[in-house]
Amino acid sequence: MTTTSTEAVLAVSGLATHFKPSRRARRRGAGVVHALCGVSFELAERETLGVVGESGSGKTTLLRSILGLERPTAGHVRFSGTDLSQLRGADARRFRTHMSVVFQDPYTSLDPRMTVADVISEPARIQRVPMPTSRLVELLDQVRLPAASMDRFPHEFSGGQRQRIAIARALALDPRLIVLDEPVSALDVSVQAEILGLLRDLQEQRSVSYLFVAHDLAVVADLSHRVGVMFGGQMVELGTTSQVIGSPHHPYTQELLSAVPIPDPRAERAKPRTLTRAWPTDDSRPAPCPVGEIL
Ligand SMILES: Nc1ncnc2c1ncn2[C@@H]1O[C@H](COP(=O)(O)OP(=O)(O)OP(=O)(O)O)[C@@H](O)[C@H]1O
Ligand SMILES: [Mg+2]
Repeated sequence: MTTTSTEAVLAVSGLATHFKPSRRARRRGAGVVHALCGVSFELAERETLGVVGESGSGKTTLLRSILGLERPTAGHVRFSGTDLSQLRGADARRFRTHMSVVFQDPYTSLDPRMTVADVISEPARIQRVPMPTSRLVELLDQVRLPAASMDRFPHEFSGGQRQRIAIARALALDPRLIVLDEPVSALDVSVQAEILGLLRDLQEQRSVSYLFVAHDLAVVADLSHRVGVMFGGQMVELGTTSQVIGSPHHPYTQELLSAVPIPDPRAERAKPRTLTRAWPTDDSRPAPCPVGEIL
């Protein structure tokens, strides 16, 4: 896969997000959680950057910090050159229409009391943008759902269909960036493939970039032009998908790759096993985040 433009839609530099422990957690001796420490990368127009990493490595915090749902402790998020932390009120709200999000669980991310039409038009309602029925039909068509779906409720749909509804909602304001947090993890493997195919087709039809988080390196590799590997709040490896998969540089990436099953049993048995967290040199460990620093 290649990208068609080098213009950075999103530029993240030195992004750090730390969480203060609650008073109760402090009493138990908990310190500041350095969920994200100094992450930097750029995302080009129509590019997909896949982010992998173990549970707790900071993937969701990265997405939430970019979307403005968490307040970063340090660093910058620039969208088409504009520093989002400098925008206030209506400007910030308007700017955020260029980004949307799809969450992991289509069972909890859609309000069961809303019809599909209400769900999809919610972002437009918040931004006070009209959403005519013809546009709803078009959005449903883009995610391959019939127009009649709009008067039904989310519980009447399967997990894959619900995720299509969530994608239609994410497309509603014609964003330039869609952030997807484990969008297929809750789905069966065959449905996963359908949703990944849909996302790929949508990117070909429109000028949208994806920042795509998943646990599963195989799923990420399927959709992404480049892959970033998170470990301990840092992006320890970032490269093209073939670089990261073909010649992983960081020991944690090597470990992740060795955990991906290969369909051929002989090749699977012959695969090197590096599941030991045996970091070859101290240099490959992420530098620890500064302790106690919170803004
Ligand atoms: N609001 C919060 N308050 C305190 N700690 C938090 C908060 N949100 C996240 N964390 C901590 O930050 C770290 C990173 O969490 P995050 O949810 O970003 O990980 P993740 O990589 O998305 O994990 P998973 O793959 O399980 O979704 C974890 O140690 C988590 O407990
Ligand atoms: Mg997460």
